[in-house]
Amino acid sequence: MTHLLEVENLTRQFGGLTAVNKLSFYMDQGEVVGLIGPNGAGKTTCFNMISGSMRPSMGTVRFRGEVISGLKAHQVTKRGLTRTFQVVQPFPEMSALENVMIGAFARHRSRQAAEDKAGEVLERIAMKHKATVLARDLTLLELKRLEIGKALATEPELLLLDEVAAGLTPVEIDDILALVRKLNSEGMSLLVVEHVMKVIMNLSHRIVVLNFGSKISEGTAKEIAKDPAVLDAYLGEEGYVA
Ligand SMILES: Nc1ncnc2c1ncn2[C@@H]1O[C@H](COP(=O)(O)OP(=O)(O)OP(=O)(O)O)[C@@H](O)[C@H]1O
Ligand SMILES: [Mg+2]
Repeated sequence: MTHLLEVENLTRQFGGLTAVNKLSFYMDQGEVVGLIGPNGAGKTTCFNMISGSMRPSMGTVRFRGEVISGLKAHQVTKRGLTRTFQVVQPFPEMSALENVMIGAFARHRSRQAAEDKAGEVLERIAMKHKATVLARDLTLLELKRLEIGKALATEPELLLLDEVAAGLTPVEIDDILALVRKLNSEGMSLLVVEHVMKVIMNLSHRIVVLNFGSKISEGTAKEIAKDPAVLDAYLGEEGYVA
């Protein structure tokens, strides 16, 4: 069977440092897979390679059976895979609508079509009422929604979220959690990097754990939460308490 995403022996070296080391995992249509691990474990590097913004030193990424490693980010986006950034990257002097339109131009040539698509997306992320507000005047929660909106406007089948809950208050985290869950219930497959355990444990069907670039565990939230290797490297002695 062809998986939606297949990562095989993915490796990235920076000089003498192996940031991602022979990482293999897969995900299927409709799944939410969490990718967790300590700071510097290689999660963002992994996202960079999957989404086409960084070439792997070794290994392959397949999306719907096609090898996409080696393609440029815009080519990967065209195939239906896109990502959000750990640090939100809006154009501050542009409106929320215009920021989302940038994503929409991945599929639409005319300004009107991009604007229509962006309007649709703003509705989907509950930001329609902020359409004309400049990004610099949005709150962090709104900017996180906008970051997701920019990605959604490229019409992905698989969305990679890099720490979408970072920096948010507990109430805001629930808000973003609800949005991500809604996207999944509408059929979106998601690969999620997150340090906020509540998000990871609540959303993920399966979790892959990285430490120093290597996979140290994989399983359901319940399984990895009691894996001694994960407790030792990441969750700490108390583990995760829901
Ligand atoms: N462009 C780069 N050049 C050199 N080293 C890099 C580069 N990008 C990442 N690294 C190193 O690779 C390792 C993995 O970094 P990465 O950003 O992927 O970790 P991460 O798991 O996303 O961490 P965090 O949870 O802090 O975001 C780190 O040691 C980092 O310093
Ligand atoms: Mg990171």
